[in-house]
Amino acid sequence: MGTELFDLEGKVAVVTGGGRGIGVMIARGLLEAGAAKVYLASRKTAELEAAAEQLRPLGAVETVTADLSSSTGVEVLASHLAGQEEALHLLFNNAGATWGAPLEEFPESAWDKVYSVNVKGVFLLTRALLPLLRAASTPEDPARVINTGSIDGLRPPVRGMNNFSYTASKSAVHMLTRHLAAEFAPDVLVNAIAPGLFESKMTSGLLAGGAESIGAHLPLGRIGRPEDIAGLSVFLSARASAYITGAVIPVDGGVSTLH
Ligand SMILES: NC(=O)c1ccc[n+]([C@@H]2O[C@H](COP(=O)([O-])OP(=O)(O)OC[C@H]3O[C@@H](n4cnc5c(N)ncnc54)[C@H](OP(=O)(O)O)[C@@H]3O)[C@@H](O)[C@H]2O)c1
Repeated sequence: MGTELFDLEGKVAVVTGGGRGIGVMIARGLLEAGAAKVYLASRKTAELEAAAEQLRPLGAVETVTADLSSSTGVEVLASHLAGQEEALHLLFNNAGATWGAPLEEFPESAWDKVYSVNVKGVFLLTRALLPLLRAASTPEDPARVINTGSIDGLRPPVRGMNNFSYTASKSAVHMLTRHLAAEFAPDVLVNAIAPGLFESKMTSGLLAGGAESIGAHLPLGRIGRPEDIAGLSVFLSARASAYITGAVIPVDGGVSTLH
């Protein structure tokens, strides 16, 4: 077994939500494993540029500003990529949003906002990029779609958490992953990662009490590190995982074993 099983040399990737947090962890992992080029996409140009600047010493990085919650923004990204690339090996649908409010006050808009990015956008972008993904596929090493789900879409909800549309949306991402995996086989593989607790803007409130003390309560005794996301992302991008599709893989320090 050679190291080429985990080598991403020559592969072109798109990482949505690539301007910060888990998106940057994914992009760094891909570049360190030899990816030829990574496109980062999200809504904030300055944040994307700052992330790209930080990652460029590792390889080619380009940015595309697009709101991926609607077909208009999806089209911006898809047409940019179609103009630049003949094939796309890896699509990370990682952009995501959450919302928290007490049950009685939970607004209808928080369903639309969260579902449009977390679920609808994943479907629209994947469909739009399918021709480029198919162009990159070989029988030995098919192109990949890797969706970011969540432990919150896998385990029973934590009592007191009021992110109703988020947990439902992430469960939907997991089933969409399986549905598209069946639809695209054998040309394109579709899998999901289900992160537990990682430091990002999304979890800054949750971790305000201290990452170390919160992590100490988890089965593996810590919150996730960037390398934990990178390791699974590289595996799901590489020849090593060419016989896996429709899987939802927790990367959560054992949280999914609780309850
Ligand atoms: N951190 C965790 O512990 C954790 C655990 C489980 C799952 N996740 C998932 O991991 C993914 C990344 O989250 P994160 O933790 O890194 O949080 P984050 O720092 O808030 O990142 C979210 C990313 O999504 C982008 N985004 C949001 N709405 C968008 C839109 N309409 N169009 C395009 N991009 C959009 C954001 O950029 P802009 O605001 O510039 O658009 C940002 O880059 C999400 O899917 C999240 O649900 C995170």
